[in-house]
Amino acid sequence: MLNHLETLLPIMQFLRCETPQTWLDYAAQHIDILLIDHANCELKAAQNAMMLLRKYALTPPQAEQLLNIIAPYEAYVYRGSKRPTLQQKNRLFQGVAPGTNQSDFEAMLIDKMLRLIKEELHHFDQVLGYMEQRQLPYQNVSAGRYAKTLLKGVRTFEPAALIDKLIVGAIIEARSCERFARLIPYLESDLAKFYQSLLQSEARHFQDYLALANQLAQGSIAERVQMFVAVEASLITEPDPYFCFHSGVPALK
Ligand SMILES: [Fe+2]
Ligand SMILES: [Fe+2]
Repeated sequence: MLNHLETLLPIMQFLRCETPQTWLDYAAQHIDILLIDHANCELKAAQNAMMLLRKYALTPPQAEQLLNIIAPYEAYVYRGSKRPTLQQKNRLFQGVAPGTNQSDFEAMLIDKMLRLIKEELHHFDQVLGYMEQRQLPYQNVSAGRYAKTLLKGVRTFEPAALIDKLIVGAIIEARSCERFARLIPYLESDLAKFYQSLLQSEARHFQDYLALANQLAQGSIAERVQMFVAVEASLITEPDPYFCFHSGVPALK
């Protein structure tokens, strides 16, 4: 529990509100829906990081190599192909060669996002494992309002757009980490252990996104962070007709 607190403190100082008790009570009764959406979130986290790398840092050959990593997962999710094995996955990552003409920021983005992609895909595999144990089939579920609404605040010119996307990335990771921690007391012991094991990496993803935003901005990002965390707090505390991992206060008919 003490570990928790240490990991969570910077996150609670960053976010403007805790997950409401009403969301936790509802989630405790709907762990199956939550697990399915959790799997979706892990894959989306990897896809989002991959999009950032392709748009902002990679040369075309590197981008090509990276696409090969996620392709088997997308084939599994969207076309029902077989899930890649751990060995296949490790082999794929070994194929991404570092570039030569990249700036310090680009090198930092590549370094942090590659690790993040690897970890999110590993989490995705792990969630699928727990779903299989519970005989829950994987499903694509429609996204809630959370990420979409946050991304609406992203500015349209560079590098401001990328700074904002990185701040949004930090917020999503921070909230995920907070929710994993808050859910632990409501879970069966195997899942509780699993969620506990996710806290460290999700907290690091939060710090990595924030460090990247700071590095790129070369000045204070406090004002942008305040704007986005205020929007985020509304999404978490206002009634939400759709229940999912990042939804607001359940307001289901
Ligand atoms: Fe994750
Ligand atoms: Fe993450």
